[in-house]
Amino acid sequence: MTTAAGRRPTGRTAPEEWPEERRRTAERLLASSAKVSFDPLTEVDWASPPVPGRYYSPAHNLSLYGTPLWDALTEEQRIELSKHEVASIASVGIWFEEILMQMLLRHAFDRDPTSAHVQYALTEIADECRHSVMFAKMISWMGVPTYGPGRLSHELGRLFKTISTHSQTFGGTMYVEEILDAFQRELMNDESMQPLTRQVSRIHVIEESRHITYAREELVRAKVGPVRRRYEQLLLGLVVHRSTVGLINPKLYAAVGIDPKVGRKAARNNPHWRATKTQMAAKAIGVLDRAGLVGRTNRWLLRSAGVI
Ligand SMILES: [Fe+2]
Ligand SMILES: [Fe+2]
Repeated sequence: MTTAAGRRPTGRTAPEEWPEERRRTAERLLASSAKVSFDPLTEVDWASPPVPGRYYSPAHNLSLYGTPLWDALTEEQRIELSKHEVASIASVGIWFEEILMQMLLRHAFDRDPTSAHVQYALTEIADECRHSVMFAKMISWMGVPTYGPGRLSHELGRLFKTISTHSQTFGGTMYVEEILDAFQRELMNDESMQPLTRQVSRIHVIEESRHITYAREELVRAKVGPVRRRYEQLLLGLVVHRSTVGLINPKLYAAVGIDPKVGRKAARNNPHWRATKTQMAAKAIGVLDRAGLVGRTNRWLLRSAGVI
């Protein structure tokens, strides 16, 4: 039974905010999901081997591109590096998708499940479930380790998915989805890349565009006061920092004979890699900024992550 306000009388007590706007957005996204969704188990050609001589991601988007270390690599090693970097980014994708699934469940838990808004949250969780399996299968297909974002980020993620506020949930989500989207969009559009990484990117880009709309609209609807804003900025700064720095796990440099410490330092000081990250993050940082979520409290973290 639901009340006139659309709330269930038992337990689900969060007041429904912006019911009309939420309904309109969610109905549009649900209709689009019904029309265009993918099952990566059957729609990705997992049986096909990698095409020899093809990069897994465009060379200019790799962390060492433009450095003396890059110049010293053979073509074969550069392709190998592209494989490990795509796998590392995918493993960070899984880390964040698992965080996001829990945050969306927390969002749905307090709200009316008969609303389109909650049904879209549940639909998005189902999408993310399939994406995480898809990324995991891609990592296995590549035959490389599951790098992950590193121990510290893993543990911070454990905390964040439990305590995140509304702005942090949707701000963090929008950021990670936008930055992955930017990398994958280029990959899927480049016909010279490995067909399988292009296929995986295409599925992800199409389904994520709905998630980005959902997160962005939730984010800009919520207004936060000046004191609270500092807290939101700090936590969002941490999410941006950990997820961006974590994209490339330094352990992967060993796969092409580079000492991880040396590789990490070279990437950190690589102006080209910094420019790539800034470009990939520009849209998301713009949205956070307009929502009042970029400021003194987190600008140092964004700078340290190389995204501003
Ligand atoms: Fe996803
Ligand atoms: Fe998503």
